[in-house]
Amino acid sequence: MNLTLHVWRQPGPGAEGRMETYQATDITDDMSFLEMLDVVNEGLTRQGIEPIAFDHDCREGICGTCSQVINGIAHGPDEGVTVCQLHMRRFKDGDAIYIEPWRARAFPVFKDLIVDRGAFDRIIQSGGYVSVHTGGVPDGNAMPVPKPAADEAMDAAECIGCGACVAACPNASAMLFVGAKVSHLARLPQGAAEAAKRVRAMVKAMDGAGFGNCTNHYECEKACPKGIKVKFITKLNREYAKLLKEEV
Ligand code: SF4
Ligand code: FES
Repeated sequence: MNLTLHVWRQPGPGAEGRMETYQATDITDDMSFLEMLDVVNEGLTRQGIEPIAFDHDCREGICGTCSQVINGIAHGPDEGVTVCQLHMRRFKDGDAIYIEPWRARAFPVFKDLIVDRGAFDRIIQSGGYVSVHTGGVPDGNAMPVPKPAADEAMDAAECIGCGACVAACPNASAMLFVGAKVSHLARLPQGAAEAAKRVRAMVKAMDGAGFGNCTNHYECEKACPKGIKVKFITKLNREYAKLLKEEV
């Protein structure tokens, strides 16, 4: 199939950007969206035009780097998949496709479709860990974890830190991401000891990075490729409320 691509091009951080139009020709159904961009980039390189910069790593839905807004939807039109898992069979011959980077003040554009998601790293650095003694590995059975807690922690731990929740939210809120990280650790006995310190630090880092607040649009849940539910935002709020109560 042949497609018309309208792609955001921006030479660097803070530089002026614009939509440019390219033709994607001889694209097959079984190509992934990123493979389609690879083909387009080979053509641009042959013509002496700088290829479109886009982020990717695993190409199997794990690393969360392939952040693109396709036809106005974070990660494109298929639910529950990242851009690297989106296939060209989802489009038809003659389609026009609009491709843009995540749009959020806390995720400034590096170049073309690549954004700086360092704000997420800083939130994790602030408290997204458990402190453990180094040395011998403790027996896995020494600390029993109730099955419902293990299940909920696993659900929250599915977050791959892609940032689609931020890109989809009209407030550019990171509360689904932070809620998933806070819940995943607070639900386990290993993480419970530092729960109060963690939620305080992560919320502070989130606010400091310039993310907006949640006003219940639920767009984050819809855009999330890993099915992270907004109930984890509730859990984040509960953990924060517990902290405030402890301080009174
Ligand atoms: S909550 Fe979902 S959309 Fe947000 S960063 Fe995690 S995986 Fe991506
Ligand atoms: S390239 Fe890793 S999730 Fe898409």
